[in-house]
Amino acid sequence: MGRIPAEIIDQIRFANDIVGLVSEYVRLTKKGRNFVGNCPFHQERDPSFTVSPDKQIFYCFGCHVGGNVFKFLMLAENIDFQDAVRRLAERAGIKIPQNSDPFTSRRAAEEERIWNINKMAAEFYHRQLLDAPGAADARRYLLERGVSEQTVRAFQLGYAPAGWDGLRRFLQSRQVELSQAVKAGLLVPTERGGFYDRFRHRIIFPIHDHAGHVVGFGGRVLDDSQPKYLNTPETNFFNKGRLLYGLHLAKRAIQQTNQAVLVEGYMDVIAAHQGGATNTVATLGTALTERQGKLLLRYTDTVYIAYDADNAGQNATWRGLDLLQSLGLNLYVVELPDGKDPDEYFRRHTLADWQQLLRSSRSLMEYKLSVINKYSSTAQALQEVLPSLAAIDSPVKQEEGVRLVAATLGLSWETVKEELKRYTALPGKKEPETDKIVKNKHNIINGSKITPAWQRAEQYLLRLLIEQPQYLPVVRSTLGDAFWQQPELREIYQAFDAAWQKGKTGGPVSWLEELAPETATSAVRLMLDDFPVQDADKLLHDCIAVIQKHLSRQQKGLLLKAIQDAERNGDWILVHQYIRQLQNLQ
Ligand code: GTP
Ligand code: MN
Repeated sequence: MGRIPAEIIDQIRFANDIVGLVSEYVRLTKKGRNFVGNCPFHQERDPSFTVSPDKQIFYCFGCHVGGNVFKFLMLAENIDFQDAVRRLAERAGIKIPQNSDPFTSRRAAEEERIWNINKMAAEFYHRQLLDAPGAADARRYLLERGVSEQTVRAFQLGYAPAGWDGLRRFLQSRQVELSQAVKAGLLVPTERGGFYDRFRHRIIFPIHDHAGHVVGFGGRVLDDSQPKYLNTPETNFFNKGRLLYGLHLAKRAIQQTNQAVLVEGYMDVIAAHQGGATNTVATLGTALTERQGKLLLRYTDTVYIAYDADNAGQNATWRGLDLLQSLGLNLYVVELPDGKDPDEYFRRHTLADWQQLLRSSRSLMEYKLSVINKYSSTAQALQEVLPSLAAIDSPVKQEEGVRLVAATLGLSWETVKEELKRYTALPGKKEPETDKIVKNKHNIINGSKITPAWQRAEQYLLRLLIEQPQYLPVVRSTLGDAFWQQPELREIYQAFDAAWQKGKTGGPVSWLEELAPETATSAVRLMLDDFPVQDADKLLHDCIAVIQKHLSRQQKGLLLKAIQDAERNGDWILVHQYIRQLQNLQ
């Protein structure tokens, strides 16, 4: 999908009321002209999340995120701008014209067809599990494993019938092209031109991407036969390293608790969610990838690893965890008692036990040291922890790590530091990147700092102009329009002014998208901050006066300096000119 035309974006923005959209995520109550509620993007007790129906924007005074409907959906669903536009178009029943780029549109169309077929298949398997007579064994199996019907529904678990053609016949009855179902990995072609079901007599676990599309399946046998799990084959459209199982259900809780728990298997995720730990996701039998780390980083900066005891200490696991740490995630390793996996743990323990277990877990570094120290020489142990030390992106935490390593291994602090320096000097090391989507900090418009009067005046003036654009001509005739000294305010003013020239300032603020994300956030804050105006005319003139005074003081300073320079150069003509200018100023 290429660029969506601006008029369509306007139309989509107008068609989606921000109060309605936010209400799908947050309980809002009316307060004056605005609505307030608890911020969905961080945990809080007193509502600091504000939505303005007049301006069609939101802002959280606690975590400083804000924007229009698109920005809200981007943050709430962790999608990019284009996706947000598309989703809101769908929500409002607006058609986006097809893109002309044939390659991307063909791929997107194919992906959508596969999602569609997968969705049908997931529904078929799910119905089978819920009520087909042939699924009695499967129902008993899940019952014995303690999986409730509510959980079955939440994860859309299913059952693939034992024959060879249950799904194939269902898809045919729905007029699905069978070659497409082969691409989706659901059917397998035979040499004689026929097709049979890949999944037979298995419990089915649909695998969703973070946005909730069914991208693949896992199927488990009901007994001890092999292979225990069969998955959709890896293709361009299904890649386990790009997914985290359960993320579509867990992302909200991960964001709210600001922590994710990473486990190994389908059943671990399911048992954890059923037990109330809804911030749990799994990798599916593959090594951790950077992509998965970044996926987590969109929602949190803290991850608890709750792997089976036998896997936690393996090399591939270490590498994966170091990788996550290098992305800027704080990692803790949860040690499950008696070598159990989380699924078994939740059979016998409560959510409170689990939370206690998380609280008592050790940081990756501490855990690693405790394991390594058991079987390695000191020198070897040091070499093994260096990658983890090097991967810590905060200098303070790295320093703590160095001390911990030194103390645990009985080495001096200097030795560890020296070795770390040598290690990090090796070529080929990547700089960690941090995600900018959620860590969207506003910078200059910060009401809590002590702000000079002229800065305040610029802020109030801009706010006033946005609220009452009829003042624009007065401001322009007294101050011009290049007077803004705060670059961020200047940018906001320019975007606003350009929209005003085009007659586009009423209703939802359309010019926010013209701004860099951080500037847009500042603009939103500016618009929603407290602004007690009794007398707009008076405020206007006060602001103009303060700004004029500031400008003339500034100019005076410049002239005095210029006079000094000219005197030093003996350029008396120039000195006189400047003095005259100075007199004019006063
Ligand atoms: P249960 O035995 O049902 O409790 O499964 P589990 O989810 O605990 O799985 P386990 O810990 O044995 O393995 C972790 C994950 O690795 C599974 O969820 C699967 O994604 C994957 N896995 C395990 N066995 C197989 C297999 O035989 N084939 C494939 N492709 N993947 C497997
Ligand atoms: Mn298990």
